[in-house]
Amino acid sequence: MIGVFDSGIGGLTLLKELVKTLPKEDFLYYADTENVPYSYKTREQILEFVENAVIFLRNEGCKAIVLACNTATNVSIEYLREKYDFPIIAIQPAVKVAFDNNEPDKRILACATPVTLSADRFENLINSLDINHIVDRLPLPGLVEFAENEIFEDEKVLEYLKTEFSKFDLNHYKYIVLGCTHFTYYEDFIKQNFPSLTPVDGNEGTARHLKNTLETLGLLSVEGIGNMRFVESGNYVKDESRFLRYLGR
Ligand code: DGL
Repeated sequence: MIGVFDSGIGGLTLLKELVKTLPKEDFLYYADTENVPYSYKTREQILEFVENAVIFLRNEGCKAIVLACNTATNVSIEYLREKYDFPIIAIQPAVKVAFDNNEPDKRILACATPVTLSADRFENLINSLDINHIVDRLPLPGLVEFAENEIFEDEKVLEYLKTEFSKFDLNHYKYIVLGCTHFTYYEDFIKQNFPSLTPVDGNEGTARHLKNTLETLGLLSVEGIGNMRFVESGNYVKDESRFLRYLGR
């Protein structure tokens, strides 16, 4: 069984991809519903929340854990990998995908939570690609709250995005990086309303990375059935309908 962690429902967008890539694995999804959104928490608080979830998932028997939350990754991944010896896979904003496919003269709009955009890890990613001069950062914490409140194709969301995007001349951009798993719910909405932008997220790359890691470690399952269970802040969910709905099941 594989543990998948997010502060809320955002990581379900990655779980959907994981199930597609690894149909013979079982999954335990942990949403930290009591503490979402993480954007307004301190780094110390986030680290504590994430570690509690990781310990919970491991105690339930997960052989590997996926941090399906960019914010959690940025705050905790180095600490967790140092402390624990089981595989912990982490999502990160798909700026490399955007850069590799970019058109000449276009800039990249990197959207994430304020915690992610101000993290050393994000800075290091940009510096390792040497693209600081073409990347602009736009925090969109409002999208996390809209998603958690199940507000999707709504005028309020459109107004919010228009206001935030008005800080930039969108003609200068091709790719918009959705560097927060909650933002993936708005991928189609962004395409429809801002057709010059092409959204990219890190979900596919993370699923591939998990598969390769499990293969390398000889941990790939051949007998799971894509079974899924859900936990909210340490308690098993009885009525799974909300989670299943987000997964399109
Ligand atoms: N889904 C999370 C991410 O990928 C963050 C949401 C939050 O602010 O809690 O960054």
